[in-house]
Amino acid sequence: MFKNVTSAFKISIIYFIFSLLWIYYSDSAINFLVKDFQELQYLQTIKGWFFVTISSILLYILTRQFFINLQKEKDKLANANYILEKVIENAPVIIFWKDKNGVYQGANKQLLEIMNLKNKEELIGKKDSDFNISEKEDFVNDDLYVMTNKKPKLNYSETITTKNKEKRVLNSSKVPLFDNTGKVIGVLGVVQDITEQSNRQEQIKSQEQLLIQQSKLASMGEMIANIAHQWRQPLSVISMLATGIKLQKELKLSDEQSEIESLELINDNAQYLSKTIDDFKNFFKESTIKNKVYSDDIVKKTLKLILPRLKNRDIKIVENYENVEFNAYESELIQVFINIINNSIDALEEIEADKFIFIKTNKINNNLVIQIKDNAGGIKEEIIDKIFEPYFTTKDEKQGTGIGLFMCNEIVVKHLKGKIFVVNESFEYLDKTYKGSLFTIELPLV
Ligand SMILES: Nc1ncnc2c1ncn2[C@@H]1O[C@H](COP(=O)(O)OP(=O)(O)OP(=O)(O)O)[C@@H](O)[C@H]1O
Ligand SMILES: [Mg+2]
Repeated sequence: MFKNVTSAFKISIIYFIFSLLWIYYSDSAINFLVKDFQELQYLQTIKGWFFVTISSILLYILTRQFFINLQKEKDKLANANYILEKVIENAPVIIFWKDKNGVYQGANKQLLEIMNLKNKEELIGKKDSDFNISEKEDFVNDDLYVMTNKKPKLNYSETITTKNKEKRVLNSSKVPLFDNTGKVIGVLGVVQDITEQSNRQEQIKSQEQLLIQQSKLASMGEMIANIAHQWRQPLSVISMLATGIKLQKELKLSDEQSEIESLELINDNAQYLSKTIDDFKNFFKESTIKNKVYSDDIVKKTLKLILPRLKNRDIKIVENYENVEFNAYESELIQVFINIINNSIDALEEIEADKFIFIKTNKINNNLVIQIKDNAGGIKEEIIDKIFEPYFTTKDEKQGTGIGLFMCNEIVVKHLKGKIFVVNESFEYLDKTYKGSLFTIELPLV
């Protein structure tokens, strides 16, 4: 602007000087050459006309150039505006901007679509509070936050409920708009509709949940065998005691004291049966909330569920616990332990020597560390990297599907944000040297 003014001033000065010089010298020349008064007047008139003609031509050239340039600038500006408008209209995101009072100044059609508006006239000049949107208060608060703090708010999740009551999930960013002096004059919003991605994630999550459930069902067969085994003993006790009482009655030998004792024992055993049902029921229930749990409690519950398998095979459990409190989905964690211990039991079946499973829990650097080790000889080095892959198994179809450790990994890493890994280890126990696999689970405690 300033440059243009000085240029115009320069041109005027040059014109002024040339004009003065022209008038002065041309007058002097005429006065010198012509002495006749009438001729002099005639020449002066022609000179005046000549001066006006030249000035007009100059003025014409200059203004013409000025208007051509102005038009060019206008075209350039219009073109830039057009491109900017196209960019905003066709960007695969919702874009809008509001003034400092939260009044919509502009937006692309993506915003109109999600707000169910027919044209921009229905939007421009209005505020969020003019629309019937349940989240409008949040939108206004975010605008205020961004404008008063003069700071952008980036990549946050929110929802918008459309006219037909559909909830869309949004990933939003808002930035303050400043004028030349740094004063906030409004807010710019860029929003992405991520409903589909978020639905897909939900789907993946529920598929995962389903897989966990399936894997629990897969172990159900075995569990039922366990229940049957666990029940045989108390059932036969109950039946024996009941028969005893009946016999005593028939033989008229009944003695009050021993009858009460027998009935108490029957009650104890019935309680035990009902308790085992609860244990199994809890295990098969889908976990939805993380609970406060204790590490040795979980290990004990696990061992209770697989005790018959251990007893049948003469496997000794060597326990070493530091009791640690943490938050977890209990039944999922129990499943992790069952899968690992079941693998150890399978592997121990192949050996002749004494059979041990070592379970150790402790707290190291704000992690709960659980180690499960057996003395079954370890995992072959050529497959040790593959055992956490889904459907990897070295067992025949009836014995294994290969999802046990995959599930362990999913639960530990994805649900509990922990780590699980395995190494083969040689170790001494009661003066003998053994070799086996050592599974370590690390769970963060915060
Ligand atoms: N303690 C272990 N000792 C030796 N090999 C093991 C041990 N634990 C796992 N493995 C090996 O890792 C493989 C994968 O184990 P994973 O639990 O994932 O599947 P699986 O036991 O074969 O089948 P599933 O658990 O689904 O019934 C097993 O087939 C076995 O070869
Ligand atoms: Mg297994």
